[in-house]
Amino acid sequence: MPQASAAAEFLQDTWRLLPSGSQGGALFFRSTGSHPYILSVREAAQPAVLAIEFSGTSEAVAAVQARARAAGAPLQAFAGLDAPGGGAGCVIEGPEKQKYRFIAEDAPVAELPPERDRPLQITHAVLNSVDVAACERFAVDVLGFRISDRTKLMSFVRCNRKHHALAYAHSDVSSLNHIAFEMNDFDGVMRGIGRMRDAGHDIVWGPGRHGPGNNVFGYFIAPFGGVIEYTAEVSEVTDDYRVGAPEDWKWPPGRIDQWGISTKDTAQISAAERRFRFG
Ligand SMILES: [Fe+2]
Repeated sequence: MPQASAAAEFLQDTWRLLPSGSQGGALFFRSTGSHPYILSVREAAQPAVLAIEFSGTSEAVAAVQARARAAGAPLQAFAGLDAPGGGAGCVIEGPEKQKYRFIAEDAPVAELPPERDRPLQITHAVLNSVDVAACERFAVDVLGFRISDRTKLMSFVRCNRKHHALAYAHSDVSSLNHIAFEMNDFDGVMRGIGRMRDAGHDIVWGPGRHGPGNNVFGYFIAPFGGVIEYTAEVSEVTDDYRVGAPEDWKWPPGRIDQWGISTKDTAQISAAERRFRFG
């Protein structure tokens, strides 16, 4: 992104990530969880998403790699990743040039004590997609995700107990729709919303509670131009979770979340969710 150092300042001081060093031209940030970093930014002329990263055991990462090779997906394996914590793994390219990086970290870092208004982890990313069905199929067949729900707007897929780690939103561009940072609880989301307002960043959607995933949310346009979310209480599902269809997720007229109190700045959000492209 342009002006990465200003973005870094915001991510640290206002969004409340913790700096975890600079390496290989990128600035890294961690949360209170056990990953050496959860987000990195680097200076560039245009905003873009270089990779969406998943961390797992070396067995899990090897399994994804084997499946992607068998499927003939574009793949690049690496060892000794130039990032805090290092690690080995692979980058697999999706149907719309999305880069999915799977990594087995060399050494997990110790968790920090949870704080009521500091993110615990990234819990999902939503990707705008031109062909949602193809992206969903790739996530399931090649990457090994499972479908949780489909609505008129998106397909939600998971890679662990959390209802979704990725979702694909119907769009005319392939871009980053938003990233969701998980807070300890509902209170943490509300405190985050207040802190953002104090810093001059009014909420653009929320507070509210989503349908699929049942999570509490507050959405913002970051000063660097992308959409970011504070969230909590994402539902956990079991293997027998029934995949929901669009007709299971209809709102009464005028509603856009379970509570019915949120307003949404659709114009601002639609512009921001198209800024960070893939490729
Ligand atoms: Fe979200």
